Amino acid sequence: MAIIKTEHLSHVYSPGTPFEKTAIGDVNLEIEQGDFVGVIGHTGSGKSTLIQHLNGLLEPTSGKVWVDGKDIWENKKQIRQVRFLVGMVFQYPEYQLFEETVFRDIAFGPTNMGLSEEEIKQSVLEAMEFVGLDPSYADKSPFDLSGGQKRRVAIAGVIAMRPKVLILDEPTAGLDPKGRDMILNQIKSYHEKTGSTILLVSHSMEDIAKFAKKVLVINQSKVFAYDTVEKVFSRREELIEMGLNIPQISNVFHTLAQKGYPVSERVYTVQAAKEELLRVLRERGAAHD
Ligand SMILES: Nc1ncnc2c1ncn2[C@@H]1O[C@H](COP(=O)(O)OP(=O)(O)O)[C@@H](O)[C@H]1O
Ligand SMILES: [Mg+2]
Repeated sequence: MAIIKTEHLSHVYSPGTPFEKTAIGDVNLEIEQGDFVGVIGHTGSGKSTLIQHLNGLLEPTSGKVWVDGKDIWENKKQIRQVRFLVGMVFQYPEYQLFEETVFRDIAFGPTNMGLSEEEIKQSVLEAMEFVGLDPSYADKSPFDLSGGQKRRVAIAGVIAMRPKVLILDEPTAGLDPKGRDMILNQIKSYHEKTGSTILLVSHSMEDIAKFAKKVLVINQSKVFAYDTVEKVFSRREELIEMGLNIPQISNVFHTLAQKGYPVSERVYTVQAAKEELLRVLRERGAAHD
């Protein structure tokens, strides 16, 4: 069963004013439980607007959103429950830290959920482990931490609610390459260990190709494509025309294939590139025997 489903979902900002803007229009989407979905699209295409509908932060202008089989706006009083089920990490989430200690910041969500003290403690420590924060950080002030550490505290605060779906809007923006890799690997291991569904909005096609199974492409407020990484990135010309990048390594293999080398063009990660080159070398080697 789809954990998230939208039907004819549209959102218009400032309707009836000169600033009226259809940010998403007629989005029909089904995301299966346990999928790791990369979300890409030009700035202003509607990515943030779309994902904020999936945990009830924005109410559709028209259309419907189902989470775990329930129409989330059927009973407005239950919208809070949806926010526990679908956790959202905003862009630059560290600006939302406000408690005196790391522990209390991460405990904010589980406390709101009404968990017992023991359960809260357990979920905070577990979340800290997922994001690679040593338990000794629990009593520190979040404001004494580095940028990357603050971000991990913010992500832990969402993970601590043990959401079935975790949505992250550009979680690595502004971090150095080491910090980026660390966070993405932690998200990957969270996904693998818990079987939760992940939606990762990113500008980095390399990151999407490396971590996601499926790619959702939003273009001009509509779904352009929702398919496997291979199928989406094989639509190279259309993506480039749309102003999106494709993984750099794909460009290398595209050029090699164009020049007549016997390599596949369907190479989207450095790991796949290595395997493809080894395959070609092995076949050549065999040919010489
Ligand atoms: N609060 C808002 N009020 C009015 N327009 C908005 C608001 N938020 C976003 N928009 C507009 O909606 C469109 C989609 O924005 P957004 O969902 O933020 O796209 P993305 O996340 O892909 O950059 C853009 O044209 C943006 O200017
Ligand atoms: Mg955005």
